[in-house]
Amino acid sequence: MIQGVKGMRDILPPASGVWNFVEAAARRIFTRFNYREIRTPILEETVLFARGVGEETDIVNKEMYTFEDRDGSSLTLRPENTASVIRSYIEHRLDQQPGLQKLYYIGPMFRRERPQKGRYRQFYQIGAEAIGSDSPAIDAEVIELVVAILHEVGIRDFELFVNSVGSKKSRARYNEALQAELKDVAPKMCEDCRRRAQSNPLRVLDCKVPEDQPIIERLPSILDFLDEEDREHFRRVREFLEDRQIRFTVNPRLVRGLDYYARTTFEITHGALGSQNAILGGGRYDRLAETLGSKTPAPGIGFSIGEDRLVMTVEASQALNPQRLDVYIAPMGDTALRHCAALAREIRELDLSVELGTDRKLKRMMELANKQEARFTLIVGDNEIVSQAYTLKDMASGDQQTLSRQALLDRLRRP
Ligand code: HAM
Repeated sequence: MIQGVKGMRDILPPASGVWNFVEAAARRIFTRFNYREIRTPILEETVLFARGVGEETDIVNKEMYTFEDRDGSSLTLRPENTASVIRSYIEHRLDQQPGLQKLYYIGPMFRRERPQKGRYRQFYQIGAEAIGSDSPAIDAEVIELVVAILHEVGIRDFELFVNSVGSKKSRARYNEALQAELKDVAPKMCEDCRRRAQSNPLRVLDCKVPEDQPIIERLPSILDFLDEEDREHFRRVREFLEDRQIRFTVNPRLVRGLDYYARTTFEITHGALGSQNAILGGGRYDRLAETLGSKTPAPGIGFSIGEDRLVMTVEASQALNPQRLDVYIAPMGDTALRHCAALAREIRELDLSVELGTDRKLKRMMELANKQEARFTLIVGDNEIVSQAYTLKDMASGDQQTLSRQALLDRLRRP
């Protein structure tokens, strides 16, 4: 038997209904905030992520699916989409368009991590990027947007963490201080930390090794190294969040595992998720466009929701069957089957889902209607066709009504 690839899942019904439900909810909210969709390819040149996400990150170091194409070029399955969106922004001169570019995306990403609950090698993100402004009001609006998406899918008991990793200058001073501090303690840490202590000290804070945590807790806080402008930017982000009555906790250790961040970073976690508890992460990346070759600055901020984790949270927090069958029609005999095709079409035109049974046994059809949790069933035989009167059964209450064709459609039209 040929099986799917490790860490890559099939999403089957009825779960796929929950996926469609969260995607539709996200699209509604994106539209309300004036975001429009961007679709970029799943394959990019490897250098895009090496430069954008950073050589010393776990993603680039250990987790990318990279291969040599037949012409010798190195290609990578996208591990994230922010670098791709900025590549596209530069390539298509989107900076020439009026106003901010507010773009969203929904699609698969690939990271070769150790699979576990909530962590997959092909996973999906629902993300957004607002490009062209460094105003702290945009940071707050982006966070408000992602909170609105969570509310729209019925999730309220989450925790929002925010931090500022400062701009380049502040971070350089912090890196120096970290390096000095790590000189003594790094030899007691894991192999990755020992290497990062030299090459990219900030990444030591991403370490998940339990024995290293007490050491990491005693390292200096980045908030003590922010310069005046960074401090003011962060103060205003917090103020705008308070104005919006969005609750948050400042977490100075939240540096996020990607190198492009500058100033604001944020993450939202949820208790239902277990150890992989981050539903989403994001932050500001004011220099990313220049790192990727843009001649003009294009400061931006965005987030990516882990859709697999969002779906898990929605499934855990409510018993919802977003793709319910509205009407099961059971035709008795061939004449009825032909007659019911037109009836099914009229009901579908009301935007209701209809299953037209083809089994010869009525009992079997009724079993199927039950198993599929149909809201209504309609049994149609020769008598109904002649009299044009139909018996509609409400499956929840057991009530039956005999209705003319028009009355039937009117009844079904009501919510
Ligand atoms: P990230 O923190 O690497 O950020 O990923 C964002 C979210 O994707 C995580 O919080 C998690 O929910 C989900 N995720 C990541 N890896 C996996 C995995 N292996 N399996 C399942 N879910 C996963 C980014 O990707 C940035 N591009 C976010 C961003 C957008 N920053 C600015 N703009």
